[in-house]
Amino acid sequence: MSSKYFDYKGATFVKGVHSEESLTYAENEFEVFDDDIYNVTYPKSGTNWMIEILNLIKNKGDHTISKTVPIYTRSPWYEVVGSQEIIQKMEPPRIICSHLPHYIFAKSYFKSKAKIIYTMRNPRDVIVSLYHFTKILNIFEDAENLQKLLDDFIKGNVLYGSWFDHVKGWMQMKDDSRFFFITYEELIQDLRGSVVRICQFLGQELNDAQIDLVVEQSTFKSMKENIMSNWSQIPSEVMDQSKGSFLRKGISGDWKNHFTVAQSEFFDKIYHEKMKDININFFWEQSS
Ligand code: A3P
Repeated sequence: MSSKYFDYKGATFVKGVHSEESLTYAENEFEVFDDDIYNVTYPKSGTNWMIEILNLIKNKGDHTISKTVPIYTRSPWYEVVGSQEIIQKMEPPRIICSHLPHYIFAKSYFKSKAKIIYTMRNPRDVIVSLYHFTKILNIFEDAENLQKLLDDFIKGNVLYGSWFDHVKGWMQMKDDSRFFFITYEELIQDLRGSVVRICQFLGQELNDAQIDLVVEQSTFKSMKENIMSNWSQIPSEVMDQSKGSFLRKGISGDWKNHFTVAQSEFFDKIYHEKMKDININFFWEQSS
C-alpha cells in the first residue's frame, strides 16, 4: 500500500483526508438526526450529481445555494477530517455525503429514521472515471495505467475498498423503506423521471415548474459551468485541473473507449463470479 494511504477495518483511506480518529468518530460517535438525508456512493458513481439534485430539491429548484456555496461544503462527507464544523452549522434537513461501506457506517443511523439515497454506477465506468481522477487529484497515487488500476480495483486495493463489497453491503438494505437506490445510468437515461422518484421517496412535493428547475440546473452542462459545482475553487496543489476536469465526460459507457477486448472479457468474468450471490439485475447490465 502506498504511503499516502492507510487501512481502517479492511478498507483503504487517504492520510490527511481521513484519519483513524475521523473514521472512529464517524462510525461510533457521529449523531444521525431523524430528518437527515444521506447521499451514499462508492467514489466516482455520481456523488456530486446527487448533491446537486438533492440540494435543489430541498430548495424547490431555487439555485441560490447552488450558485453561492461550493458543492463539497453544501453536503460534506461526514467521515472526512474537519467536516464536523460544517455539519454542525447545517440547516435541517441536512444532506450529508458518505462513501463509507455499510459495515462501518454510523451506528446511530441504524437506530434513526434518517433516509439514504444510494447511487451506483457501472463499475467499468467507475474504473475509467477513477483512472482519470487519479491524474488530477494530487492526494491520490497516480494510477500507472488502466490495467494496474483494474487489478487493484478487483482486489479492492483502492480508496474505500472493494466496489463489489460496497454494493453488496449496501444492497442488504434494498427492501428498507428508508433506503432508496438508483443508478447513474438511470439518471443519464431519464433525469426528470429520476428526480420525480427521488422527490417521492423524500416526501417532497415539488410542482412541475420546480422539478424543471431542478433538472435544468443539475445537467452536466449546468454543473460544469457553475463554479460552485465544478470544483474549480479547489487549490491547484490539491487538484491540478490543467490535467483534466472533475466534471470530465458525464456519460455512461465510456469504458468501451478504454477497455481492450481482453480486459472487458476478464472483467465480465470476475463481475459475474463476485456478483452471483446477489440476485439483482443492475440497470447497467441491461443497457450496456
Ligand atoms: P466521468 O469522470 O465519467 O465524467 P463522483 O461525484 O462520485 O466523484 O462522480 C464523478 C463522475 O460523475 C464524473 O464522471 C462526472 O463527470 C460525473 N458527473 C458529475 N455530475 C454529472 C452530471 N450532472 N451529469 C452526468 N455526469 C455527472
